Amino acid sequence: MQPSHLPVMLEEVVACLAPVDGGLYVDGNLGLGGHTERILELSGPSGRVVGFDCDAAALTLAQERLARFGDRILFVHENFTSIKETLMELGIGKIDGLLLDLGLSSLQLDESGRGFSFKGSEPLDMRMDQRQTTTAAQLVNEASQEELADIFFYYGEECQARRIAEKIVEQRRKEKIIFTDQLVTLVDQAIPKRFHPKKIHVATKVFQALRIAVNRELDSLEQVLADGALLLAPGARFCVISFHSLEDRLVKQAFRENHLLEVVTPKPLTPGRAECLRNPRARSAKLRVAARGIN
Ligand SMILES: C[S@@+](CC[C@H](N)C(=O)[O-])C[C@H]1O[C@@H](n2cnc3c(N)ncnc32)[C@H](O)[C@@H]1O
Repeated sequence: MQPSHLPVMLEEVVACLAPVDGGLYVDGNLGLGGHTERILELSGPSGRVVGFDCDAAALTLAQERLARFGDRILFVHENFTSIKETLMELGIGKIDGLLLDLGLSSLQLDESGRGFSFKGSEPLDMRMDQRQTTTAAQLVNEASQEELADIFFYYGEECQARRIAEKIVEQRRKEKIIFTDQLVTLVDQAIPKRFHPKKIHVATKVFQALRIAVNRELDSLEQVLADGALLLAPGARFCVISFHSLEDRLVKQAFRENHLLEVVTPKPLTPGRAECLRNPRARSAKLRVAARGIN
C-alpha cells in the first residue's frame, strides 16, 4: 500500500519519544500508522503500541499497514478522550510515552468526500467519527446567527465572523446549505473583496472553525492533556504535534501548568525546510514535548 499521508516530523518525534525494546506507547492519533510504524520498529522486538483513532476508515488502513507487527499493536476505535478508561479496561497502568498528532490526515482532507476540504463539492459532514450525530450541515442550517458568528470567531479567529453568519442565515431561508461549494460561495460573497486574505483561501478559517465545532476538538484536547499526564510512567515523554495556534496554546499552557510534567521544549520544534518542501502540510506543525517528573 502506498501511504497517502506522510508522517509529520517523524525523526523529531522518535528522537523525543526515544522508544525502547519492551516499552509501551500510546498513539492517540493513529491515522495511517506512520508514526506508530517507526515506534514499533525502534521498540522491537517486544515494544507495544496502543493506537487510537475515531475514524473507522483510518483504522482499517492502519491495520493493513501494521499487520506485520501482530499483537504488538492494539487498535482502538475511540476518541482519545477515552484514554483513561480504555487503558484501565486493558489492565494497563503506566505507559512509556504518549504521542498526539492532531487534526486530519491528508487522506481525510483530500479523499474522504466528507467535506473537510473547500476544494470541490462534497456533503458538509466534517465528522471524523461517523458514529457521532451532529454534522457541519446541521450546524450551518440550524445554529443561531450568534452561535455561528461565535464559532467562526473563536474557532477560526475569523474577523469577518458576523458578516459570514449573517449571510448564511439570509441564504438558508431560501435553500438548505448542504454542500461545501455552497458554503465557499457564501463566505466569498460575505467578505468584502478588500478583506480577502492574500495567503490563504478565503474559506480556510470558516472550514477550520466548523470542523473544530463538529468534532469538539478543543474540549477533547484539554481532556487528553490532563488524563495523558496521569498515565505516564516517571520520565516518560508526552509529545504533541499541533497545526494551529488554538491547539498550540492549549498544549503550551497544559504543559506549563501541570505539576506532574516538566517542559522539555520551552519553544516548540518545527519542521525543517526540506520536510516542508517535501510535504507542504507540515509547514504549520509545532511539536511540544514534556516529560513526567520523577517524583
Ligand atoms: C494527522 S492524522 C495522524 C497521522 C498519523 N500520525 C500518521 O502518521 O499516519 C490525525 C488522525 O487522528 C484522528 N483523530 C483526530 N482527533 C481524534 C480524537 N480526538 N480521537 C481519536 N482520533 C482522532 C483522525 O481521524 C486522523 O486519522
